[in-house]
Amino acid sequence: MPALIVNVDHIATIRQARMGHEPDPVTAAHMAEMAGAMGIIVHLREDRRHVQDRDVDLLKATLKTNLHFEMAATDEMKAIALKTCPYMICLVPEKREELTTEGGLECLGREQFLKDFLAPFHEAGIRSSLFIDSDPSQVEAAAQSGTEYVEIHTGHYADAENFKERQKKLGKIIEGVRHAQNLGLKVNLGHGLNYQNIYGFSRVSGISEYSIGHSIISRAVFTGMTEAVKSMADIIQTFAD
Ligand code: PXP
Repeated sequence: MPALIVNVDHIATIRQARMGHEPDPVTAAHMAEMAGAMGIIVHLREDRRHVQDRDVDLLKATLKTNLHFEMAATDEMKAIALKTCPYMICLVPEKREELTTEGGLECLGREQFLKDFLAPFHEAGIRSSLFIDSDPSQVEAAAQSGTEYVEIHTGHYADAENFKERQKKLGKIIEGVRHAQNLGLKVNLGHGLNYQNIYGFSRVSGISEYSIGHSIISRAVFTGMTEAVKSMADIIQTFAD
């Protein structure tokens, strides 16, 4: 059965809007676990725009499920990840100016670099995943790198402008999934998945994990809105006229 891994980066985005203490992504992670998440993923970006080092430390110390650590393939992140020892790392490309991870990791021609980069993680018993586009050449290069998992980028499917385009992108992703599995890789899916487009994968067997963040956090804002406003209104009602 595939597992849901919840990305809590955007709880941290809201916190960083005020540079304060709330909402705490660690609390969100614990609530996600209680609701059935099989793991929690955070992306510690070089610019620390949302998740902070302290979040990673606290998640590692307190999660009851698995910590997944999304990171750029840099020396700084390698050192943090090896010290933290998450359940799995997922290598992603990272650009300072992007709003979110925009494309898959370039693996073609970088097989040896990736192999060397991943080696200390494998020695430490940390699983690895590469976030890639579904192109056959990227899948093959990822397999050459010695990673155990790939996460196939579903963002282009999620962002497709019409039904025909979406079906085309879905077909490409499914081909990528099968190609990766035939090469012995385990496959995760993620980026841009929401409560509607997730159904595209309902008949795709053999997926290990779905990594989902933005749509869950977005929905949580609304499902929690009534209660949150009511609580504040109730307090104010008790004040003097
Ligand atoms: N997988 C990867 C590699 C990502 O970079 C992200 C976004 O941080 C996700 C999954 C989750 O995407 P979303 O927030 O759109 O669900």
